[in-house]
Order: sequence, then C-alpha cells, then structure tokens
Amino acid sequence: MERVRGVVLAGGTGSRLYPLTKVTNKHLLPVGRYPMIYYPVAKLVQAQVTDILVVTGPEHMGDVVNLLGSGSAWNARFTYRVQDDPGGIAQALALARDFAAGGAVVAVLGDNIFDASIAPFLRRFQGQERGARILLKEVPDPERYGVADVRDGHVVGIEEKPAHPRSRLCVTGIYMYDQDVFDVIATLRPSGRGELEISDVNNHYVRAGTLAYDELPGWWTDAGTLPSLRLANELALGIPEDALPVPKHR
Ligand code: G1P
Repeated sequence: MERVRGVVLAGGTGSRLYPLTKVTNKHLLPVGRYPMIYYPVAKLVQAQVTDILVVTGPEHMGDVVNLLGSGSAWNARFTYRVQDDPGGIAQALALARDFAAGGAVVAVLGDNIFDASIAPFLRRFQGQERGARILLKEVPDPERYGVADVRDGHVVGIEEKPAHPRSRLCVTGIYMYDQDVFDVIATLRPSGRGELEISDVNNHYVRAGTLAYDELPGWWTDAGTLPSLRLANELALGIPEDALPVPKHR
C-alpha cells in the first residue's frame, strides 16, 4: 500500500459532556493548549499524512472549518464532509470513500489524545499487502471501549464495551484500512445502540485473517467523558510546546 490518506472522525453528539457540548462540538473543546481536534490532525501531519478528510456533523461544521481552514497553515490539505446524523464511527468513515480514491486510509478519532508518533505503525501497515492494522493500549477500564482478545500474537476477536472484558487491551481510535473497508462497511447493520460499529469492521478483518496490530507506546486517552477530558488536559499540558506540528498563530 503506497499512499495513505488521513481521516479525522469528529462527529457524534458529545452527550456524555453535556452541557459543555450544548452549543459547540466536543472536538472544539480545549485540551491543553489547543482545541481537541488539533491533536489527531497534528498526529497525522506528524506522520506525513497531509491529505486529510475531516468528518463532522452539520451543526458545527462551520466552526470546524473556521478553526482548521484549508490546511495551508499546517502544510496540509483538508477536505470536509458532513455526517448528517450521528450513526456511528463506521458510518462516518464510509463518507471517506470518494476521498480515498481507491486507496488506503488511516482514521483517527477526533477525541483521541496520545503522545507517540503513529509513523512507525503506518510504515508497517504500508508494508502489509492488504488488510487492516489497529493500535491497542492497556487500560484500567477496558469495559468503556472496544476490547481485543489477543492469543498467540493475533487478535481473535473484538468486543464493543463488554461487561466482562477478556483483556485490558483497548482498541484505540487509530485505525488503518485497505480500500476494502468501504465494501465492508456497506455490509454492516446497526448495533443495539443504533450505530454502525467500527468494532464490526475490525471483526470482519479478524475473520478474514488480515487484522494486524501493534501496542501503542506512551500515554493514550480519549476525551469523551468528564474524567477522561480532565486527564487529557493534564497529559496534553505535558507535551512540549514545539512537539506538535500545529500552525504558528498570530
Ligand atoms: C469508540 C469505539 C471503541 C474504541 C473507542 C476509542 O468508542 O466504539 O471501540 O475503543 O472509540 O476511543 P466511543 O468513544 O464511541 O464510545
């Protein structure tokens, strides 16, 4: 796989942070020195993924575009697509089909904040002939996430928010997929919570025997709940000021 395009998934209602998200998008809330969405965008740019699609809902697309612009200030190129209704991460990713132009994608959830570079894992993905690659992280509260069951160095299944997790390995919101992902999403049915689940996409690759994984080094958190937003703030403030390739503001 040669060229990989980037996707930042910044939809959803942010209901777990209400009323912080009453009049703005979760991904625009402050985390450390920057609006939340800066981090996933910066992580893609840092890995030299500069063609980036940003997906968000209609309510705050204007603010997202005002914030990020064309991408020229990031030495990147941003494209935007509206997700009309919050129908899940996989539904949002499906909107990247034309943008991907028959190629592979690396998708990052807009509320995932972490310190390691994704560049080495992206290179490994590019070395794969096909399939997908996910990044796992050991967490103390796996029941909040997609949880990977790993045996003999292979992911044998992923459960979305299991009551009784089989491991502490959370599936982070950093996903690499070959071009088949769009056909996979087209076969999905909504889950119990009425969403097209990214875990169903990943399990499809598990069944095909083409889901690779790495463990993400360093720290990682999401920022979709009050405690995790607070943690994200603390961790992000520890990132040295010049460590991220964000625009130099006036
Ligand atoms: C989503 C995914 C979950 C993943 C998590 C990572 O959960 O469904 O599999 O572990 O992101 O941040 P959500 O934040 O939508 O509850």
